[in-house]
Formats: sequence, structure tokens, C-alpha cells
Amino acid sequence: MLPFQTMLLLDRTLEQPLYRQVAGGLLGALQRGLLAPGTRLPGSRALAQQLGLNRQTVIVAYDELVAQGWLESVPRRGLFVPRNLPQAAPQPLLAAGARPAYPARTAFAFESAVELPPLLLSARPALAFNDGFPDVRLAPLEALTRAYRTIARRPSAARYLRYGSPQGAAHLRAVLADDLRASRGLAIGPDNVLITRGSQQAIFLTAHLLLRPGDAVIVGETNYFAANAAFRHQGAHLLTVPVDAHGLDVEAVERLCQQRPVRLLYVTPHHHHPTTVTLRADRRLQLLRLAAAHGFAILEDDYDFDFHYASSPILPLASADSHGSVIYVGSLGKSLAPALRAGYLVAPPDLVRAATELRRLLDRQGDSLLEEALAELYRSGELHRHLRKARRIYEGRRDVLCALLHEHLPGAVHFEKPRGGLAVWARFAPQIALKALAQACQRRGLLLSDGTYYEGGQPNQNAARLGFASLNETELSEAVTILAASVQDLQASRPQLPG
Ligand SMILES: Cc1ncc(COP(=O)(O)O)c(C=O)c1O
Repeated sequence: MLPFQTMLLLDRTLEQPLYRQVAGGLLGALQRGLLAPGTRLPGSRALAQQLGLNRQTVIVAYDELVAQGWLESVPRRGLFVPRNLPQAAPQPLLAAGARPAYPARTAFAFESAVELPPLLLSARPALAFNDGFPDVRLAPLEALTRAYRTIARRPSAARYLRYGSPQGAAHLRAVLADDLRASRGLAIGPDNVLITRGSQQAIFLTAHLLLRPGDAVIVGETNYFAANAAFRHQGAHLLTVPVDAHGLDVEAVERLCQQRPVRLLYVTPHHHHPTTVTLRADRRLQLLRLAAAHGFAILEDDYDFDFHYASSPILPLASADSHGSVIYVGSLGKSLAPALRAGYLVAPPDLVRAATELRRLLDRQGDSLLEEALAELYRSGELHRHLRKARRIYEGRRDVLCALLHEHLPGAVHFEKPRGGLAVWARFAPQIALKALAQACQRRGLLLSDGTYYEGGQPNQNAARLGFASLNETELSEAVTILAASVQDLQASRPQLPG
């Protein structure tokens, strides 16, 4: 009899039941050619004895393989490997105790689709100056679960578990269109809205629909790295324009348009990512005029519209677009919680239809239940209650962070207090190398971007976003203490020039 006890490696500590381990092991042996067609399997009693198992476990494993056609039962003779199975070349038996390894690499070549900087995440919730994420501890989970329960109790609840519309739940598109009309001046209805899994999906869909290799895309000199990556992924050629205290340099945009055809311009007018500056009103109107004159599309990413502290939010470019130039994307990731993966794309219906069809290729639809629950949060007013509360808290945290930076890092870090958003754009003095600073902070338990996310800026830009929203006052104070101590570490380790 074959040495089944070394061929079938059973592990009683696994969650997988033993009969499945036996069936899986036998199947592996069949596929590796160790059990050739026509081979007779040992009786269940004998195999159970060899493996130290209950006979019933082996019977169930055999039954499963017979049901799947991997073994055949011949009356009064026993169980056999069917003769019509193609024979694999026998491979050497594995050494006792060895586990067949899952291949570490594919046997075929392929190109890695994208190259992105590593995510700045920690396995455990650590102290982090993130890119500007919300405090998920404030997320209205209670209201959300209540909304789920309300929906689950409806007689029609099962409908949300079936395949639904790839454009997103009609109910959510309707309340969202109402909300965007009222709060952002967008003259839209539900047909203008595609619900996506976050604004990144909307950016990707736009890039895929509009861009072909060699197409020119204008972005800020520093720009949101994941948008740049989505454009490059389509083979687009990125042209950059400077960003000053009033946002994108629109005259530079015009000069580029005079030199060559431009297909798309990406802009975060409310708070430019990463520098947080707001695009001045005359520049917004000028961008719309340029788009109409030169025939390029504008992708307006209004990722943090909900968080403005000084005054009313500026209205989106899309609210003044009567020409059909603007594709507007937004997210509930910052308003509620990033992991909910809810965002939207707003555009004239022809583009929404095309984007919806494209979306079906990579994601048949969103999460209908979640979409219904979000619609309920809009309808009941819970979402706006949460936003009012979060805005107040984040404004306080912004002020605390700015005060702490002034107090503990005078001269080491330069910044303007942002009028909105969830992060401070901190420019470190040239002698404080950001990469070394990020490492020093990490050693002391604070995550800080080393600047790789903010590509393309001024040479030696030496700046990072300090997300303040997800840290409470105590945590902000700890984080700034670590930051200041890390700056001192660097200064202490700098070689002293001979006097
Ligand atoms: C400027 C900008 N756009 C888009 C996104 C993506 O957001 P979402 O989580 O909705 O995909 C982010 C996320 O941080 C962002 O900063």
C-alpha cells in the first residue's frame, strides 16, 4: 500500500475538517500523478487505520471524491481511479512531513499594472499623521445599523440582495441628487449620478473612458498621487502647472493649451491636494472658459467638500458649467468612513451611461444594502447631523494642531492654517530631511509620510500632510511631542561643521 500517511498530511489544528483534508490530499496525489488511472484505493478501514482516523471520516472523504467523479466505485471490487482520467507525469513523493508548497511565482509572464508608493498603514492602530482621514470613532455606526434594520424589516428587503443596478440604488441617486442640488448648486437629477465605490473608482472610470496613450492631462505640480497613477495607467502624458496660494496657475494652463491638444485637466478646487489651497473664484471661471475654448474635460475631485471652517464652502466648478465640460466626483469616505467605499460621479447622462457600462466590467454593482442604508441616513437627516458634529470637532482639532506646531516647532515647520479639509500642509525647514524625520518618528511610534506621496512638487519640497481629524486633543499633543523630539534627534545627529 502507498505511504498514505506521508502523502496525506493531516493537521488537526486547522479549522478545515479532517475528511476535507483527506479528500484534498487524495485529489492532490491524483493530480500529481501519484495515483495513476486504474489504481485501486485501500479500503476505508485500512486507510483509516493507516492514518489513525475514524473510519467514517475516510468514508465521507471517499464519497465526496466519488460524487465529484475523481474516484469510481466498482461493485464488489472497491474504489478505483477512473481509467479515463488523463495521466499526469508522476512526481517524487514529498519527504515525510513536507507540505506541498503553493507556487511562489506564476509560470507565465505578466506585467505589474501599477506602481504606487506603499500604503502608510499600521497593523495596529498607531499614532499617525495620516493624509487627512476622518476619525472613524465618530462615524454614526448606530444610525447606520438602525438604517440597515429598518430596511431588513421591509417586506421588499430581499430585493436588495439580488443583482441590482450598476448605476447604484435609485433611492440613493435621488436623495443624493437632491442634496447636491441644495448644498452645491448642481442642477442635476438621478440620471446624472453614478454611485461608485469611493471617488477613486470614479477617477479610474473617467481615466479609462477618456484617455488613450499619449493623451495630455494637466495636473498641479504636486497632485493627488492616485489620480496621477490612474492617468499614467492609461498611457496619458502628464503636464504639470504650478500651484500657488490661489490654486492652479490658470495662465500656465492656457499656455499649454496653445501648444498642444489637451484631453483632461484634473483639479481639487476646494482644497488642493496636497497643499490645501483653495482655487480662487476668477481662476475657476477661467478654467471653465478654457475648457470650452480648447475642448478639454475637467475632472473635478471635491473629496472634502463637507469640511470647511472659515466660511461657506465654495461652489463646485460643476455648478457653473453650462457647457458639459465637467465630470464631478465626490466621496462619502471622508464624510462617514473610508472603508464604507461609497462615492459618486456626476456628469451629463451620456457619460454616466458609458461609465456605468464600464463599471460593470470590473464591478457588477455596488453594495445595494449599504446604498439603501446611506439613502436612509440622508433622508432621516442623520448624515447632516453627523457632519455638523464632525465639522465642529475637526475645526477644534485643526486649531489645536496649528497651536501645538507653533509652540513646539517654531522655525522647523512652515504652514498656513487650512480653511478646510482634514490636514495641514507642513513644509519642513530644508535642514530637516523629511525621509530621515519620518524614520525618526516611526522609531518613536508615530507614522509620518516621508513625502513620497506628494510627488512632482518643487525640487526638495520637503513637505507632508499632517492629518489632524483622526487624532483627539491628547493624541495630537502626543504626536507633536514626538515630532518635536524627532526633529531634535535629527539636529543632534547632524555632523557639526568645524568651527
Ligand atoms: C484627493 C483625493 N481624491 C480621492 C480620494 C479617494 O477617496 P475614496 O476613498 O472616496 O476613494 C482621496 C483619498 O484620500 C483623496 O485624497
